[in-house]
Amino acid sequence: MENPKNKKELSRLGLGCMRMSNATDSDRSASIATIHAALDAGITFINTGDFYGSGQSEMLVGEALKGSNREKAFVSVKFGVLFSPNGTIDGLDVRPQTIKNYLTYSLKRLNLDYIDLYQPARIDLDIPVEETIGAISDLVKAGYVKHIGISQVGADTLQKAHAVHPISFIESEYSLFNRNIEKQILPAARQLGVGIVAFGILAHGLLSGTYGNNSRIPLFSKENIEKNLSLVEALREIAVEKQITVPQLAFAWALAKGEDIIPLIGARRVSSLQDSIKSLDVNLSESDMRRIENAVPENEIAGSSFPEIRFKNGRIVHP
Ligand SMILES: NC(=O)c1ccc[n+]([C@@H]2O[C@H](COP(=O)([O-])OP(=O)(O)OC[C@H]3O[C@@H](n4cnc5c(N)ncnc54)[C@H](OP(=O)(O)O)[C@@H]3O)[C@@H](O)[C@H]2O)c1
Repeated sequence: MENPKNKKELSRLGLGCMRMSNATDSDRSASIATIHAALDAGITFINTGDFYGSGQSEMLVGEALKGSNREKAFVSVKFGVLFSPNGTIDGLDVRPQTIKNYLTYSLKRLNLDYIDLYQPARIDLDIPVEETIGAISDLVKAGYVKHIGISQVGADTLQKAHAVHPISFIESEYSLFNRNIEKQILPAARQLGVGIVAFGILAHGLLSGTYGNNSRIPLFSKENIEKNLSLVEALREIAVEKQITVPQLAFAWALAKGEDIIPLIGARRVSSLQDSIKSLDVNLSESDMRRIENAVPENEIAGSSFPEIRFKNGRIVHP
């Protein structure tokens, strides 16, 4: 089994660069400062996607990794989601014949000659996952990609993909507000020795009071936000007792779920990054973990924090 941990030092936490943009000079410098602060703090796992800011996120990562920083970083890139100029998701392209082209553009924007972890952002119900992964495995053979990942798929798809080429990581939403992966995906990944990259730890900002900021994706409804914020208050009581912030509590909870889980910090600002990093110093006992999970009972979570978008033949399919 391929184990990226043997090849490059991987941090316990990762930096998610989805929200980074270079819309203004100050956004741009805040993003680069955040990536540098992450590397300085030993966070080596840097997560981006070619569609994050339609390439802007990759360009910022490339800028921040100039020089000796490159070898410190384990760069993870997702591809495939198509956007329209008005910022809405327009489709998905994970056809085997187009992947090399997307990789070429990513390498240019990142100013790199290889990507550590390359993965389809979603799968297409009309394209066997084996074909998509097979095309990426050709890029591994050619030296442009070191490891293959996959994102937001079920246990069956993960197993099929892993049979074609070892999958190093599955990227999945995992938070106190969405523990679905515990049922099938986490056990399947563990059986195969696949690591988990967990996103949405702060329920996309619900736990940090930044919900909906800089997001073009429809998330919880207004009514569900109100209901869920009362659960966040129950978490806040525990955090106050422990003299930590709610984000630190949420990240500490995710870290305690297993050493094979890399929770992503989706920060654009050095201050929120540094606050979340302090979760590495928080020790939670088994009874703390039970208390935290009981504060957010799964049957009391209203709605879902992130839309389950499915794609078929390149187009969005509505359930
Ligand atoms: N595979 C997928 O389908 C997928 C989907 C979504 C996201 N992702 C990945 O996961 C990463 C994280 O996702 P996300 O950004 O939606 O969710 P998130 O991590 O749940 O929330 C991010 C928000 O939390 C804020 N924040 C972080 N730490 C904080 C702190 N200590 N105090 C206060 N605010 C804090 C950020 O603020 P600031 O921005 O102001 O710093 C941002 O608004 C993304 O960057 C991306 O790499 C993957």
